[in-house]
Amino acid sequence: MTDLYAVVGNPIGHSKSPQIHSAFAAQTRQDLLYTAQLVPLDSFELALDKFFKHGGCGVNVTVPFKENAWRYADEFTPRAQRAQAVNTLKKMSDGRILADNTDGVGLVRDLTVNHGVTITGKRILLLGAGGAVRGVLQPILEQQPAELIIANRTLSKAEILAADFADLGNIKAAAFDALDGSFDVIINGTSASLSGDLPPLSPAVLTAGTVCYDMMYSTQTTVFNQWALDHGVTKAIDGLGMLVEQAAEAFALWRDVRPETATVITVLRGERR
Ligand code: ATR
Repeated sequence: MTDLYAVVGNPIGHSKSPQIHSAFAAQTRQDLLYTAQLVPLDSFELALDKFFKHGGCGVNVTVPFKENAWRYADEFTPRAQRAQAVNTLKKMSDGRILADNTDGVGLVRDLTVNHGVTITGKRILLLGAGGAVRGVLQPILEQQPAELIIANRTLSKAEILAADFADLGNIKAAAFDALDGSFDVIINGTSASLSGDLPPLSPAVLTAGTVCYDMMYSTQTTVFNQWALDHGVTKAIDGLGMLVEQAAEAFALWRDVRPETATVITVLRGERR
């Protein structure tokens, strides 16, 4: 029987994951079928029980089910444990469900491998303190930045994150209007772009050499990246590469083979033109 995989979410229509994983499967000659499944808001557990009972080997989990997936799993990778939210589930040989969060490692790989950006020893600013940011903190801190500042509209949420991850590196919380100096890398992990808004950030945090990264991607330049470009930044990267890299990490967890990502990113980027 063909091994089955799926991305589950609500809504799910826009998901690029089936295309990405099908490309990985073709490239690595793996016999599998990956589909997108729209799951009713109150039926996550039921839908997954059914899926895993009928040949399902793994799922990617997207909005709004990342916390449901956390509760559904039996075992966690250390980074998923820290993130308290998961985007990947794998049915193990004993039938138990392993949870991982591959978002952070996807972000770090996109920045460092695909775009040649150094995090180690640098001054990094991370905008936002929601689930998306919590999910990427451990892999960023593992790169040992000189300093990682989390800025959030609601300062208390940034302070909680900074305290939760303080044992992993030099991490601090700051209000947007209390940011001091400029940064080497600024990562937007707020959901502000979704509504076309900008985080309340002063251009004083930028130099021409600052790298800006928006964890969001869309067919057009995101409002955050456009703001950075308008203020003289030359490198503003969107989250398409992160999407493909987090998928590659999930694929590797499921299939024990790491797919090549560059051509998949190029194809997806070409389709957006
Ligand atoms: P996600 O899962 O995408 O992280 P979330 O947990 O709801 O979603 O977090 C959204 C993040 O975007 C929060 O950091 C939020 O700031 P608050 O904690 O102050 O709410 C941030 N955010 C959303 N809209 C924003 C805006 N217009 N300006 C600045 N920050 C915004």
